[in-house]
Amino acid sequence: MPMTIQPQLYSLIGTNSQLLLAVSDNADIVYYGNRLPCATHSDLQQMAIGLERPIPFGRLDTDIAVSINPQLGRGNFGASALEGFRENGSDWAPVFTITAVKQDGNKLIIDCLDQRAQLGWQTQIELDQNDVLQLSQTVTNLGTSDYHVIRCANTAPIADNASEILSFYGRWIKEFQQHRSQLSHGGYIQENRRGRTSHEHYPAVIVGEHGFSDDHGQVWGAHLAWSGNHRMRIDVKADGRRVLQAEALYLPGEITLQPQQSLTTPTLYMSYSHHGLNTMSQHFHQHVRTSILKDRLHKPRPIHLNTWEGIYFDHDPNYITAMATEAAAMGVERFIVDDGWFLGRNDDTSSLGDWFVDPKKYPAGLSPIIDHVHQLGMEFGLWFEPEMINKDADLYRQHPEWLLAVDGYDQPTGRHQYVLDLQNPAAFAYLFERLDHFLSQYEIDYIKWDMNREIVQPAHNNRAAGCGQVERYYALVDKLLAKHPKVEIESCAAGGGRIDYEILKRTHRFWCSDNNDPLERQAIQRGMSYFYPPEVMGTHIGSHCSHTTRRTHTMNFRGNTALFGHMGLELDPVKADKQEKTAFSQYIQLHKKYRHLLHSGDNYRLSFNDSAALQGNMVVSKSQSDALVSINQLAMPTYCLSGRLHIPGLRADQYYAITIVDEPDNLHSMVNRQPPWLTSQQHFSGEWLQTVGLTLPIMDPESSLLLALQIQ
Ligand code: GLA
Repeated sequence: MPMTIQPQLYSLIGTNSQLLLAVSDNADIVYYGNRLPCATHSDLQQMAIGLERPIPFGRLDTDIAVSINPQLGRGNFGASALEGFRENGSDWAPVFTITAVKQDGNKLIIDCLDQRAQLGWQTQIELDQNDVLQLSQTVTNLGTSDYHVIRCANTAPIADNASEILSFYGRWIKEFQQHRSQLSHGGYIQENRRGRTSHEHYPAVIVGEHGFSDDHGQVWGAHLAWSGNHRMRIDVKADGRRVLQAEALYLPGEITLQPQQSLTTPTLYMSYSHHGLNTMSQHFHQHVRTSILKDRLHKPRPIHLNTWEGIYFDHDPNYITAMATEAAAMGVERFIVDDGWFLGRNDDTSSLGDWFVDPKKYPAGLSPIIDHVHQLGMEFGLWFEPEMINKDADLYRQHPEWLLAVDGYDQPTGRHQYVLDLQNPAAFAYLFERLDHFLSQYEIDYIKWDMNREIVQPAHNNRAAGCGQVERYYALVDKLLAKHPKVEIESCAAGGGRIDYEILKRTHRFWCSDNNDPLERQAIQRGMSYFYPPEVMGTHIGSHCSHTTRRTHTMNFRGNTALFGHMGLELDPVKADKQEKTAFSQYIQLHKKYRHLLHSGDNYRLSFNDSAALQGNMVVSKSQSDALVSINQLAMPTYCLSGRLHIPGLRADQYYAITIVDEPDNLHSMVNRQPPWLTSQQHFSGEWLQTVGLTLPIMDPESSLLLALQIQ
């Protein structure tokens, strides 16, 4: 009979969740779920005996823990956490022994060593009071020869009852689309090789018990904070155990550790909730607010006007000045000059890299516009796409060798452009100098930092360098912010192609999508809301006729959709007629009135019986005294009655007054009668609103109803 050594149990306790790690010769997550408030640590330690597994015939004769560092050399037949080798082919199946476990409150550091392979391994794991877990690994080459790393992953065993997956797919102008699938034999894998976070493979996955939903079920959400290639997998082992792995995906030969060199994985963020996805999202939102953004969004999010869809490349300073005047009159607080302002940039075929003001378009430079914008009381923002270069640009003519490419190949272009090798010190220094010049020379408050193509052959000195490129990009942003700490940055990559927690550590908001069609935006913003609070979602009201779908929508639907984010306008205010301008001002005022609530409260996605046709969002203040509820009819109602609205998150014993803040123009003329509570100023208790509910009105497709609730 194999001997059993009772493992040492370590416990990390969040506000509502708890993680138990059993440490013997390896460290294994044996429980990650609801907090266990009744048991003392020594009780838990004793009861852990109840977790010992049987050892079936037909397998290895010892029990193999899945562990947070699965190793083939220990008999883990799933994907190892580390795959690598030395020049002579040795040390490819390391077996680590734990040398030290240090616990500091809710943070655990586990040191491991393979003396024979001369490799060190450290796991950092922390569970915070927002119930967000952070996990990362560091491998160190302690030997005297180089160690080539093929894979280095974060591993988190997850509960056996996780049987369904919510993952995200997408593309340009259709980001964050949701996909539900079953988790059974084999498992799930997502690989992103596009060189940026990508529209296609958002680096996150949510698993849960059968039938989990926004307000029901055990769920575990996982997000890998990394802006490059990644792999996320969930293996369902032959014995039924489930293992999640999340890692940066390395291209062949990309990572070599010289003696004494270390590599740390991107951080895997996880959160557990036993009340479904809304609670999970609230954990992530709160973590973003307190730990990622910290105090960087200290002032109310200013209302934007971005010039792109208004004028595209057609820049005339007098006209832009007039746009700024109109924008300010409507209540806009930040005016951003998008693509088209720099040397020779008249369309998207040329000039990227030539970061000099185009003297033909701007004979007096940018100062007159910037001064005008500031005089109007607005902030000024400017668009850059620093990592990119066109072949038709002076920079390319001077430095063709700065391309991120493998010599001797013609790689396909994306939007006619190529990528600069940021690991080339001269290219890096040039970009820093140019950006620093603009931020030093002009009063620029905000940068829209774009990245409009995928990366095909990321190479530095012909060696694969996808990760190095991402790291130098972070370094460039960091260096710039160190010198210009007040500047705010938006992360944009052809819309939502670079949205993740690692870039959010150094930026202030995301451009969610180039699609401003509110119907599409409802789905995009809903998908994004699983991990991001509204204040970092750039949500703009576009033109009456959407530039990406050619669909038209009412102001009511456009305005209400843009309201639940960091709002702005994406249009030409000079061309807007008087009625439109009045409407824009109204929604701007509405956003100003509610932005504090929107950007600090708890968010809920509301679901209805007719979920394909009807969706809702709401935000409740932390004190539960105020709430804003948005009900969005997306498609033709399936039934002639729409059922009931249930409002969560309120104080059961308190009464709330409901005000209709915005409604479709035809709300009362399209039916014989709408529910009388819409017009009669009743008060309802929080208990009633949550449990019994209110009858929903009947609405036309693509229209919104906005309700404000206030405690009495
Ligand atoms: C990308 C961005 C747009 C706009 C254009 C400019 O597509 O997502 O918002 O800035 O580039 O070229």
